[in-house]
Order: sequence, then C-alpha cells, then structure tokens
Amino acid sequence: MRVLVAGASGFVGSRLCPALEEAGHDVLAMTRHPAKYRGAGTAVRGDVADVGSLRDALKGADAAYYLVHSLDRVDFKRRDADAARAFARAAAGAGLRRIVYLGGLGDDDDTLSDHLASRREVERLLGETGVPVTVLRAGIVIGHGGISWELTRQLVERLPAMLTPRWVSTRTQPIALADVVRYLVGVLDHPEAEGRTFDIGGPEVLAYRDMLERVAAIEGRPLLILPVPLLSPRLSSYWLALVTDIDVTTGRTLIGSMTNEVVVRDDAIRRIVEFEPMGYDEAVRQALGERRRTA
Ligand SMILES: NC(=O)c1ccc[n+]([C@@H]2O[C@H](COP(=O)([O-])OP(=O)(O)OC[C@H]3O[C@@H](n4cnc5c(N)ncnc54)[C@H](OP(=O)(O)O)[C@@H]3O)[C@@H](O)[C@H]2O)c1
Repeated sequence: MRVLVAGASGFVGSRLCPALEEAGHDVLAMTRHPAKYRGAGTAVRGDVADVGSLRDALKGADAAYYLVHSLDRVDFKRRDADAARAFARAAAGAGLRRIVYLGGLGDDDDTLSDHLASRREVERLLGETGVPVTVLRAGIVIGHGGISWELTRQLVERLPAMLTPRWVSTRTQPIALADVVRYLVGVLDHPEAEGRTFDIGGPEVLAYRDMLERVAAIEGRPLLILPVPLLSPRLSSYWLALVTDIDVTTGRTLIGSMTNEVVVRDDAIRRIVEFEPMGYDEAVRQALGERRRTA
C-alpha cells in the first residue's frame, strides 16, 4: 500500500515509518519541514493547518496514519479539532481507504481531562467524512524521546526524593514503543480492524509511583516519594518545568490527565495482532539503551 504518515518526524512516527517499509509499504513521510527530514520514506510537505497542503500530500495515497497533536500550545483543543477536520476532508477527497489514529486511553464515563477529551474529539472528527478510521488508544508509551517517558526518567535521574501530588496513585498501563509500532503496522490492512477502536497496553497495570520506583531500581538510584495531597496542578506544573526540560504548558496539560485512570478495558486487539507485549522493565531498559546509543 502507499501510506502517508502524518507526524512522521515525531516520537512514534519516526519508528513507524521504517517498520512500514519493512512490511513492504510505500511510505510518504508528511512533515512541515521536508528539507530537514532524514527518516524513512519519501518526505512530503503537509501542514494540518493548511488543507490545500494536505490535498497535495495525500495524492495517490491508499491509507494514512494520523500522529499529530499540539500539546505544547495553550489552545491545543481548538487547533487539534480544526486539524482533524481538515485532515478528514482531504482524506475523503483523496479517496483514502483507511485512516489509522493513535489516541489516548481513558474511560468515557470518567471526567476526562482537556487533553484526553481533545484526543477523543479527534477520533470522532477524523471519521466525519466517511473514511473508515481505526483507532488505537494508548496510555504512556515507553521509548526514548517520548514526552511522558522523558518526564519519568528525568524525575528519577534528577531527584533522590520528591513531594508528589495525589496523582502518583493513579493506575496506568504503559506500553513499549516497539509494541505500539507492531499494533499500528498490524491493523493497517487487517479487514477486522476497519472502522474499529482498540485499547492497547503492556502486560502490567501500574501506578505512576510504581513506574518511578521501578525506573529508580533499574538505574540503581535512591528514590523517596512523599505524596502531598494539597499540591495543586498549577504548582505541580511549575515544579515539573523546574526539574525537567518539559515546558510549563505541556507539563500542565499532562498533569491534568494524570488523575484519569488509563488502563485497557477491552483487549480485542490481542486476537487481531497476535504477539506478547513486553513488560515494563524490559521497555524501560530498551528506552535507556536507545538513549545511550544516540548520545
Ligand atoms: N508519546 C506518548 O507517550 C503517547 C501516548 C499515547 C498516545 N500518543 C499519541 O501518539 C500520537 C503521536 O505522538 P508523538 O508523541 O509521536 O508526538 P510528537 O513526537 O510530539 O510528534 C508530533 C508530530 O506532529 C507533527 N505536527 C505538529 N504540528 C503539525 C502541523 N501543524 N502539521 C503537520 N504536522 C504537524 C510534527 O511534525 P513536523 O514538526 O515534522 O511537521 C511531529 O512529527 C499522538 O496522537 C499522541 O496523542 C502518544
């Protein structure tokens, strides 16, 4: 298939493009900066804020992955909704057979954070022009360069003790980047995946606290966690920006989501793309190994 990847230069997209080529697909790597692009596939210019550029980028494509967000912008909700509408229109115009979108886990009957609600809205908007959408919903993706993983790693490496808000007890189901890529590639031309939404996760459900402690143990670092119930989300985001290299806006958006439980409720994907997802410790070791290799 000829497949366009929107977000090809990003954390997930940069690992997905070579995997798609390996699976025999012809990859169009969409980016706003094609001259700078060094990854797999043929670079094509496309900006989700410019529907004309999307029409040109999607010409001749059979399917597309949608891996774009603007989490670092205060008005991400409006931007990401407009972008999804524009992409859905251009995809229908180009006669695409499928869009595959990687969104976020979180229960519909929970009060979802602005970030998770926005990821959910993108799901709906991508499907509004009639192109079948396959949605994979993930929690934290563990891999070198991922925002949430970097937050975890940097906290552990920079602080031997932390005062943390209540969210350290929220349950999550982290997944290794390599496994996300296997699922993304596996659903592309699978007939049973068309128009469906799947939860994806690793084999373990962990609280944020467990994740921090397991990384500290793997890295051989001391870590004392003292939860402080009154630490507000605003204060927490300033604190994160001080300790890590995550900016305040992204930190605040991510912290807003940390009160939502993000665990797999339906594992139907396991019968469609069959393999054993790797455990958290192994995913951490792979992320740390890739960081060492690229340093
Ligand atoms: N990271 C995680 O832990 C995680 C967890 C669950 C779900 N997800 C989902 O996975 C998807 C990808 O996330 P990621 O972490 O890989 O993101 P990322 O590393 O931040 O990459 C974002 C990509 O979006 C592209 N982009 C941004 N604005 C654009 C615009 N106006 N037009 C065209 N492209 C634009 C960027 O490409 P250029 O700058 O080259 O144009 C970049 O490649 C998202 O849908 C996210 O919700 C991620």
